[in-house]
Amino acid sequence: METNQISVYFHWPFCESKCPYCDFNSYVRNKINHKEWLNAYLNNIDFWKEKLENSIIRSIYFGGGTPSLMNPYYLSLILEKIYKNFSLSKDIEISLEANPSSVEKKKFKDFSLAGINRISIGVQSFNDIDLKYLGRKHSANDALAAVEIANSEFVNVNFDLIYGRQFQKLIDWEKELNFALSLGSQHLSLYQLTIENGTAFKNLFNVGKLRGLPNEKLSKEFFVVTNKLCKQNSFNQYEISNFAKEDFQCFHNLNYWKCGNFISIGPGAHGRYVFNCSRFSYENINNPENWLNKSIKKKFPIQQNKKLSKLEQFEELIMMGLRINEGINLNYINEKLDIKLNNEKLKYLKDYKFISLKNNKLKLLLKGKLVLNKIVQELLV
Ligand SMILES: C[S@@+](CC[C@H](N)C(=O)[O-])C[C@H]1O[C@@H](n2cnc3c(N)ncnc32)[C@H](O)[C@@H]1O
Ligand code: SF4
Repeated sequence: METNQISVYFHWPFCESKCPYCDFNSYVRNKINHKEWLNAYLNNIDFWKEKLENSIIRSIYFGGGTPSLMNPYYLSLILEKIYKNFSLSKDIEISLEANPSSVEKKKFKDFSLAGINRISIGVQSFNDIDLKYLGRKHSANDALAAVEIANSEFVNVNFDLIYGRQFQKLIDWEKELNFALSLGSQHLSLYQLTIENGTAFKNLFNVGKLRGLPNEKLSKEFFVVTNKLCKQNSFNQYEISNFAKEDFQCFHNLNYWKCGNFISIGPGAHGRYVFNCSRFSYENINNPENWLNKSIKKKFPIQQNKKLSKLEQFEELIMMGLRINEGINLNYINEKLDIKLNNEKLKYLKDYKFISLKNNKLKLLLKGKLVLNKIVQELLV
C-alpha cells in the first residue's frame, strides 16, 4: 500500500439491544440526538483534513454498533464532506454494517442512494432457536429477507454467521452453511463463537451455566468443514474468518490486516497513520457521551496518540499478517523494521507443517490456522 493511501472508519456506538456474546464498544440508549452526532462526525473530518492533506481515500467503513440505525440522509452528508475535502480512489469501497431487523432493511435503498456500495449484514444464524440463544431480536426469515433485499440493492453483499454455537451439531452447520453459500452473496464472514471478557456469556460461562459449547476437537472440525464447503463453492478464504468470491475481498479489512494506514472517527475507534515519516497509533475516547461532547465543542476526542516503535510495528505485523492467506513479507520486516525472525523457530514450524516459507513470504498452513494464537506467541518471543 502507498503511504498516502488511507481508509476511513466511522464508529456508530448504538444498538437496539446488547447481544450476550458481544464485546464491541456498543450501547443501548433510549434517545439519540442524530443531528449532534452528525455534527460531531463532521467536526472530526475537519481535524483529520489538516493532518492528512495529501491522502487518497481507498475505502470508507461505517461499523458499530449498528450503523444501519443512522439516518441515511445524515450519512450522505458525512460522505459529501469527505468527497469535498479528500481525494478519492476511483474504485473506492464504501461499506455499512447492517442489522436484519425489519425497520433497517427498508433503509437499504436509501443507504445505496447515499453512496454505500458494500453492505455487511449481521445474520448470525438461519435457525430461530439458535438466534434466541444468541440473544438476537430478528428471526431467520428476517435475515433471509435482509439478504435478498441487499442482493437487489447492492452488487457487493456480505453477511456474518456465528458457528460453534451452543448445542450446534456439525451436520446442522454443514446444512446451514450450504444454504448460506447458495444465497448469491459475494462475501461471507464466518466467526467461531468466542466467549469474550465483560459479556453476559462470559458471566454465565464463569458459573458453569453456558452449556453445550463445542470442545476443542469439535471446534477444529467446525473450522475444517467451514473451509472445505467454502472452497467447494468458490468462496476463497483470504483471512481466517473471511471468504469471498473472486475480486470481492473486503479492501477495508484487508488494509487493517496488512497494517496499512487508517483514520477512525467515533467512540473507542483505533487508528494508524503516518506523519513526518513516523507511524502513529491512536484511540478515541470510549464513552459515547464524552466523545460526543468533546467533538461538538470542536476538541479532538482522542485519549491516546503515540508513536509506534519498530518492535511494536513488528508485533502488529505478525499478529495481523498471520491471519491473511497472502502472508507476511519477511523482506519488509528485515529491511524496514530491521528485525530478523529466529531461523530455528521458523524451520521447526515449517518442518512440522504449521507454516510455509516461499520467496520470503511467511504463510500459515491449515494446521497452523487451527492454533493461530500459539504460532503468534512463538514468533513474538
Ligand atoms: C458489529 S457486529 C455486525 C453488525 C451488527 N451490529 C449486527 O450484529 O447485526 C460484527 C460481527 O462480529 C461478530 N461477533 C461479535 N462478537 C462475536 C463473538 N463473541 N463471537 C463470534 N462472533 C462475534 C458477529 O458476527 C457480528 O455480526
Ligand atoms: S453483535 Fe452487533 S447488534 Fe449485537 S451488540 Fe454487538 S454490535 Fe450490537
